[in-house]
Amino acid sequence: MATTALIREDDRASDTLHIQFREDVLTGLSQSRKAIPARWFYDHRGSELFEAITVLPEYYPTRTEVGILSERCAEIASTVGPGRVVVEFGAGSATKTPLLLDCIAPSGYVPIDISGDFLRESCAPLAARYPGLPIHPVEADFSEPAQLPAALSSQPRLGFFPGSTIGNMEPAAAVDLLRTMRATLGSGSQLLIGMDRIKDETVLAAAYDDAQGVTAEFNLNLAHRINRELGGTIPVEALLHRAVWNDARARIEMHLEARRDIAFEVAGRSFSLSRGETIHTENSHKYEGRSAATLLLAGGWEPSHTWMDAQGRFMVILAQAIGNEQTA
Ligand code: AVJ
Repeated sequence: MATTALIREDDRASDTLHIQFREDVLTGLSQSRKAIPARWFYDHRGSELFEAITVLPEYYPTRTEVGILSERCAEIASTVGPGRVVVEFGAGSATKTPLLLDCIAPSGYVPIDISGDFLRESCAPLAARYPGLPIHPVEADFSEPAQLPAALSSQPRLGFFPGSTIGNMEPAAAVDLLRTMRATLGSGSQLLIGMDRIKDETVLAAAYDDAQGVTAEFNLNLAHRINRELGGTIPVEALLHRAVWNDARARIEMHLEARRDIAFEVAGRSFSLSRGETIHTENSHKYEGRSAATLLLAGGWEPSHTWMDAQGRFMVILAQAIGNEQTA
C-alpha cells in the first residue's frame, strides 16, 4: 500500500513538472523576445553536462568556492559558532555540503528540495558520513516559505545557498527569494551564500563558452529536451550557443541563436525564428561587495563577513537576519 501511494505521488509530481515545462516553453516562445527559464536545463542529461562544466579549466566558480570553503573553514566556523541547524536550499552538493558540515559542528541538517529523488540520493551518503547528526529532508519548493521540522525548532539556524545559484535570478526575484528564506529560517538566523563576482569580461566569456564546447552542449540540450519531451521539431543543428556579457545588468546571458530562418513545432504549436534571432536561456548575474550588500539588505539580511579567493573571483558571504519576526 505504502509503495503504491509513493509511486502515485511521484507520478503526480512528474505530471505537474511536465505541465509546467510545456507552459514555460510555450509562453516563452510566444514572446517577442523569446526566453525559457534556466531551471529547465536540468534534466538527467543537463545535470550530467553541468557536472562536466564544473570541472572545466575555464569554469572557475565551483573550484573557487570549494577552495574558499575549505581554506577558510576555521574562520567560518568560529564566526558562525557551533550548534546551528544547517538548512540547505536545494539538495546538497556532494562536495560543498560536507565541507560546511565538517567545519562548523552543526546540530542538524535540513536539505529543502522539490525533488524527492535528489533529496534521497544526497541524504544517504551524508547520513553514513555523520552518524550522530539529525538529518530531516524537506520535500518542498524553497521559493515558498517552508515549515522546518519541529524537532529542531529551538536551535539557531544557518541557511546555506552556495553555487551562485542566486545569480540565475533577476534582482527582483532574488530579493523575493531572500525574503522567503528569511521567513523560513526565522529571527536570529544566519545565511551563508555564494556569489560570483564581476570580473574581466574575457574570463567570464570563456567560463560560459569553453573550448571543449561542453557549455554549448549544455545550452543546446534544452532544445533537445523540448524535442524529446514536448514533441518538438526544433532543428537543433540550426542553433548556435551564445554567451554574452550584458554590462548594464552585470550578467552573462546565454542564448540559442538561429543560423538561418527556421520554423518548427512544439506541442502542436508553430513557431519560427529569423536568422540571428535568439532564445534567451539563462542569466548569470555577477556582484561585487556593495551590489551584493544591497541585494541582501533588500532581502532582509545584513551582511557581516565576506570571504574571497586571492584573485577576487568569487565570494562567500555570511549575513544576519534583520528584525525579529518569528518563523513563517
Ligand atoms: C549553476 C547557475 C551557478 O550560472 O554559472 C554554468 C549554471 N550555466 N554554465 C552559472 C551555468 C552555464 C551556473 N549556476
